[in-house]
Amino acid sequence: MVIYNISVLVSGGGTNLQAIIDTINDGTIKNARIGLIISSNPKAYALERADREGIHTSVIRKKDFKNDEARGEAMARELAGAKTDLIVLAGYMNIVPEKVVNEYEGRIMNIHPALLPKFGGLGFYGLNVHKAVLAAGEKESGATVHFVDNGVDTGAVIKQGKVPVLAGDSPEQLADRVLEVEHKILVEAIVEWIASLRSQ
Ligand code: GAR
Repeated sequence: MVIYNISVLVSGGGTNLQAIIDTINDGTIKNARIGLIISSNPKAYALERADREGIHTSVIRKKDFKNDEARGEAMARELAGAKTDLIVLAGYMNIVPEKVVNEYEGRIMNIHPALLPKFGGLGFYGLNVHKAVLAAGEKESGATVHFVDNGVDTGAVIKQGKVPVLAGDSPEQLADRVLEVEHKILVEAIVEWIASLRSQ
C-alpha cells in the first residue's frame, strides 16, 4: 500500500499542524504520514508539537541564506530527502521559494484565514487578516485552502468554509472561530487530495 509523505511548513503555534497529526493518528487521514516539518522560526511552538510525535524537523530561516534561490535549494533538498509527495503550508509566514513552488506544482497547498480572493496578498497574514475583515465591516469571514502558485494567495481554490462575524468581535475572537473551520477544511482537503491520487 502506498503511504504518502506529507511535509508541513510552519512558523508559529501549529494548531493546523496538530489537526493534521490528530487526524492521521485517528485514521481520518489514511495512507499518509508527516515525514518532515520545516519551520521558518526556531521558536515556533509547532516544533514542540513535532518533537512530541517524533517527527523530523528542520529550521530554514530567511536570514541564514544570501538570497531566495539559496533558501529554495536548501528547502528543496530537505523536501526531496523526506521523499515529499505533498507540501502543506500550515501557518507558514514566509513566501515559498520559486524553485519549490515549481517543483511541487499541484502538490503544495496553503491554508489562509479569510475567504480569498478577499483579504489575501502581501501583508495579509495572521491577525492582520482578521483586523482587516473587522475594519471592512464584513458580515462573514472564513478560511480558504488553495494550491500555491508563484503569486501571494493567488493559487486555485480547493475549498472554503465560512463563519459569521459577530457584533463586538475582537480580532482574536474572530481568529478562533476561523481556526475551527481551518482545521476542518485543511484535513478534508488532504483527505480528498489523497483520494484523488488513489482513484487515478
Ligand atoms: C492560521 O490562522 C493560518 O491560516 C494563518 O496563520 C494561522 C496559523 O495558526 N496563516 C496565514 O496567515 C498565512 N498567510 P496555527 O500556527 O495555529 O496553525
